[in-house]
Amino acid sequence: MIDIHSHILPMLDDGPTTVQESMEMCRIAVHDGIKKIVATPHVENSIFDVNAQTVLEKVNMLNQLIQEAGLDLTIYPGAEVHLNDRLINENIIKESPILTINGNKTYILLEFSFQWIPTETEQVIFKLKSMGLTPILPHLERNNRIQENRAVLQRFVDMGAILQVTAQSFTGGFGNAPRKCVLWMLKNNLVHVVASDAHSPVNRPPILSQAVKIVSDVLDEETAHKMVSEYPKMILEGISFDR
Ligand SMILES: [Fe+2]
Repeated sequence: MIDIHSHILPMLDDGPTTVQESMEMCRIAVHDGIKKIVATPHVENSIFDVNAQTVLEKVNMLNQLIQEAGLDLTIYPGAEVHLNDRLINENIIKESPILTINGNKTYILLEFSFQWIPTETEQVIFKLKSMGLTPILPHLERNNRIQENRAVLQRFVDMGAILQVTAQSFTGGFGNAPRKCVLWMLKNNLVHVVASDAHSPVNRPPILSQAVKIVSDVLDEETAHKMVSEYPKMILEGISFDR
């Protein structure tokens, strides 16, 4: 499996606070059957100001430790991007090695609020698509407004956005409302990718297998496989896909 959304780099954002915690997350991921992880620290928001060089250095450092530990896992660079006017207007995104997934200049994981739907969301999707970028919108099932206004999800998909849900939403880790919403999305063909959005070895570990089991039960194994392997592989490699 490939996990395209995780906070696994140490001492960077609200992810692991030590290298040991990062390595513990890597071991959990390997045990779960994950072979590739995109590290997506928060960047350019008001709380975390993380630069590309630091992300690349930490990715290299962690890959080195993973290799030394004999784990079958590779970390790739990326970011959970808080969009701002500078990023869009100065066309920085495609020049950055981290602002698109694995620096592939194709897919961009956007940071998305849990409380509201930013009024400019549709303009942002339109603008990014016109720049040749496909936005990935994470964990909309955890958004209060979207839980009440699910129709907006189809609009985002029709405009070309990819919807990524969080594995723990399926298991009730965020409560009943996200769980109900994610199951509704699943049944209505509004889930493209399942990712962990892992933050720690304990509270939010990089585990996808439990969600895969639920998706397999609700839909089928082949669809579950697409959401954690096939589509994430295409996203990692910057290849477009039609569902
Ligand atoms: Fe995240």
